[in-house]
Amino acid sequence: MQATEPSHPVPTAENLKYKRVMLKMSGEVLMGANEYGLDPATVARVADDIKAVVDLGVEVCVVVGAGNIFRGVSGAAQGMDRTTADYMGMLGIVINALALQNALEAKGVHTRVQSAIRMDSICEPYIRRKAMRHMEKGRVVIFAAGTGNPYFTTDTAATLRASEMDCEAIFKGTKVDGVYSADPQKDPDAKHFDTISYIDVLTKDLRVMDATAISLARENDIPIVVFSVREPGNFSKVIQGQGKFTTVNSN
Ligand code: GTP
Repeated sequence: MQATEPSHPVPTAENLKYKRVMLKMSGEVLMGANEYGLDPATVARVADDIKAVVDLGVEVCVVVGAGNIFRGVSGAAQGMDRTTADYMGMLGIVINALALQNALEAKGVHTRVQSAIRMDSICEPYIRRKAMRHMEKGRVVIFAAGTGNPYFTTDTAATLRASEMDCEAIFKGTKVDGVYSADPQKDPDAKHFDTISYIDVLTKDLRVMDATAISLARENDIPIVVFSVREPGNFSKVIQGQGKFTTVNSN
């Protein structure tokens, strides 16, 4: 059942740096401690985290990956045709998007799912102006099915949609609390960056996002905020400038 719409617009938080943001999460976040699939308690916890940010008056859109269901790249590695494997990954994203929509609506957050590949019985097709309108009305828009094209990652889809939606920042939720000079789990001397430039991320091959996504963010001057989504409530903290995170920008 859809949550009842508020009769008044969501207030805009005046003191926040970013008022419209894209949240990008890998599908693995939604599997919790499981090895694959969806963990309902984790999906509900992620929905709480998003709700906390919506309650601050921030307009939020979301792109989730599908690595908890199917990874196109590993399907291709196992001999599957890459294009088919990528389309299977895009269908996995739709499953995650519907799970997240369900969890958010259960908490009274208004949402719309828009898919890059038409499946009108399940969700809306991607229509930029409609998505903008939803966000202006305080609805969380979940963009599903990536860009609708094989060979593009969900990081690229998130950056593309963030550019189209005029988002002021991309919040990339990961397992770690920012960008390090080396893998912090393997190298105790790994240095945490508070900020780092797009160019340094590319030239040092720091793997924040793939090169296509970083280049698109750079071209459109959208900062990427890398933070840990594993800690409950962290999205709301980081968007208020608290805690540990890394901002990738033009410096
Ligand atoms: P506003 O009229 O701007 O407030 O937006 P709205 O989304 O409430 O209006 P609309 O009448 O377009 O949508 C009503 C409901 O139908 C929403 O839950 C939409 O997500 C859903 N909906 C709209 N278009 C489609 C579609 O093509 N496919 C599916 N499955 N649902 C749709």
